[in-house]
Amino acid sequence: MRFSGKVAVVTGGASGIGRATALRFAEEGATVLVGDIDDAGGRSIESDRIRFMRCDVMAEADIVALMSAADDLGGPDIVFNNAGAGGLRATIDEIDGEGWDRTMALLLRSVALGIRHAAPIMARKGGGAIVNTASVAALASGAAPTAYSVAKAGVLHLTKLAAADLARHAIRVNAVLPGFITTNIFASSVGLEGVVRDRANAMIEATARQAQPIRRPGRPEDIAAAVAVLARDAASFVTGTHILVDGGLSVGPRHSWDPDVPGLFDALKALGEGG
Ligand code: NAI
Repeated sequence: MRFSGKVAVVTGGASGIGRATALRFAEEGATVLVGDIDDAGGRSIESDRIRFMRCDVMAEADIVALMSAADDLGGPDIVFNNAGAGGLRATIDEIDGEGWDRTMALLLRSVALGIRHAAPIMARKGGGAIVNTASVAALASGAAPTAYSVAKAGVLHLTKLAAADLARHAIRVNAVLPGFITTNIFASSVGLEGVVRDRANAMIEATARQAQPIRRPGRPEDIAAAVAVLARDAASFVTGTHILVDGGLSVGPRHSWDPDVPGLFDALKALGEGG
């Protein structure tokens, strides 16, 4: 019960990573306030420990209201700025300004404002822990579209700057960088719903098993575990950093970890053997 007596805010808590994290916080004793635009999903997670409040993280007034509701509950002690979606899918030579702005507002501005409106309340109460969801896409190309990846790189940098700004208030700010995690985000990003989305998720499940050195799909619970590590009091000397939870996805090129994919030296050896 590491979070006993704490109040945690989780954005995007109706589904996937946010949902698993809300459940994890609640299991460990926290009162959790979930903010999301998915009313049905949000209501389905409600319990004696978890409350749902509609919150569109693109709307500053909604974020203010969410933090104010957490204040009324005696918190927030923990804020997980996590809500998100795939955003604009275009390459840089095809982007449009409006799509770019919407992606930045959803994935980066929302995190900045989540921190902005949690910090004064946390400071008044003597401190707290903030965790932001960035992505392995913050580190390199190939994991997600350009606008999304740039926004997530922004989240990573914002995490460091916010940690610097807020340490004096005993507020720690860290990030989690998920790799390929089996959630609805991929199907939702291309507008799939219902039965088709379920079929797409089954396909994603098979792909996710083969996508990284650790040969199993990444799960929302894997990210929840890392968020719990960053949020707990035992991490009181940890700020401005991140945990990468990607099953080894970013260790290096595929041939370095997949014996079925030959590298240069495999090819040279085969040549020497007359292959
Ligand atoms: P998901 O689609 O299962 O959950 C996202 C949640 O955010 C949904 O409940 C959705 O309703 C909510 N949401 C979307 N727009 C919102 C808005 N404007 N206001 C409030 N809530 C909103 O997806 P997942 O994978 O759990 O995504 C959570 C976070 O993890 C996102 O920030 C995503 O970018 C990030 N992430 C996910 C990865 C993955 O492989 N699934 C990898 C790296 C990062």
